[in-house]
Amino acid sequence: MPNSRTLFLDACGRKKTARPPVWLMRQAGRHLPEYRELRARHHFLEMLADEKLIAEISLQPWRRYRMDGVIVFSDILLIPSVCGMELKFLEGQGPKFSKPIAAGDDLKMLKELEPKKDVPFLLNALRALREEIKDNAALIGFAGSPWTVASYICADAAGWRKREPASFKKVLDWVARQTIIYLTAQMKAGVDLLQIFDSWGGVLSEAEYREWSAPFIRQIVEGLPRPKPPVILYVRDSAPLLAPMRETGCDILSVGWETDLTEARTAVGEKFGLQGNLNPHILFQATPEEIRRETENMLKRMEGFGGYIANLGHGVLPKTPVENVAAFVETVQKI
Ligand code: CP3
Repeated sequence: MPNSRTLFLDACGRKKTARPPVWLMRQAGRHLPEYRELRARHHFLEMLADEKLIAEISLQPWRRYRMDGVIVFSDILLIPSVCGMELKFLEGQGPKFSKPIAAGDDLKMLKELEPKKDVPFLLNALRALREEIKDNAALIGFAGSPWTVASYICADAAGWRKREPASFKKVLDWVARQTIIYLTAQMKAGVDLLQIFDSWGGVLSEAEYREWSAPFIRQIVEGLPRPKPPVILYVRDSAPLLAPMRETGCDILSVGWETDLTEARTAVGEKFGLQGNLNPHILFQATPEEIRRETENMLKRMEGFGGYIANLGHGVLPKTPVENVAAFVETVQKI
């Protein structure tokens, strides 16, 4: 059995592996008592900017479950928050920008990202993580897609896009350009692969996705330095969007739990890997035995498919019992 890092990268390269690698979106966070303990002592935004806490929180799920991938603890809203948009995190309500942008001209108030100056804590944490996990896990960097980030930084993204498509595209282009700079810095700091979270892509129709999301993800992928690491694209409610997702240049498509894996397998063809897609509500509610059964069913559907990464169809829900997460990881790893 190869080490977890090799296993993960082999699967990204669509090689047939002895078993699929496994990790969970949002594995670093509130379902873990050790995260909640740190969180009781620190504000969320303070944790995002502290290199020791970033490394510690990223390692918490790995120490407990030994999944094959470690995703760095951060947030898709970090870029706008360090480029001049004040981000507030209200307890119980989540992140909110004090002054969302409302017109193309507002972009003039934002600076270009300078990673060494603006996010040194993240880069230092990545280097520390790389050192700590060695080949025992793949290190996963990430960012939000331009469409999904725009949905948070714009006042009324949906209305703006219809009213003034040209200036809204300037916002998407701005996010794409900062994301290239950001992910390039993550690559230099030692990540093995990248995931782009397009969590809100599913609100678009196939034609809209081709206009408002896919081209800007493609801009990012094409803008990364070569050799480019594997890139996973996650879309929630991905079922109608598999075709345009293939046009983004991403290597692995991460599908929501509403998407049938067998159908996805046929639809994506030979060129793409697949990631997913156990329902996080099942992980939250079911017993460990039921989770083992559901996970085995999922694995059976992907048997013989070179390029499969076991994961959920969206992030771990905050109140998910740790025994359930353990049952999921163990079931994949015991094959
Ligand atoms: O996957 C991981 O474990 C790495 C860390 C990570 C976080 N956010 C930490 C976090 C990642 C990959 C994200 C991505 C993210 N952030 C997305 C895309 C993925 C998704 O879930 O759809 C989005 C849309 C965001 C923006 C965001 N951050 C929201 C809407 C919220 C509030 C809702 C929620 O899930 O809490 C956050 C807060 C957030 N990001 C927390 C964590 C651990 C919870 C903070 C806390 O209260 O302790």
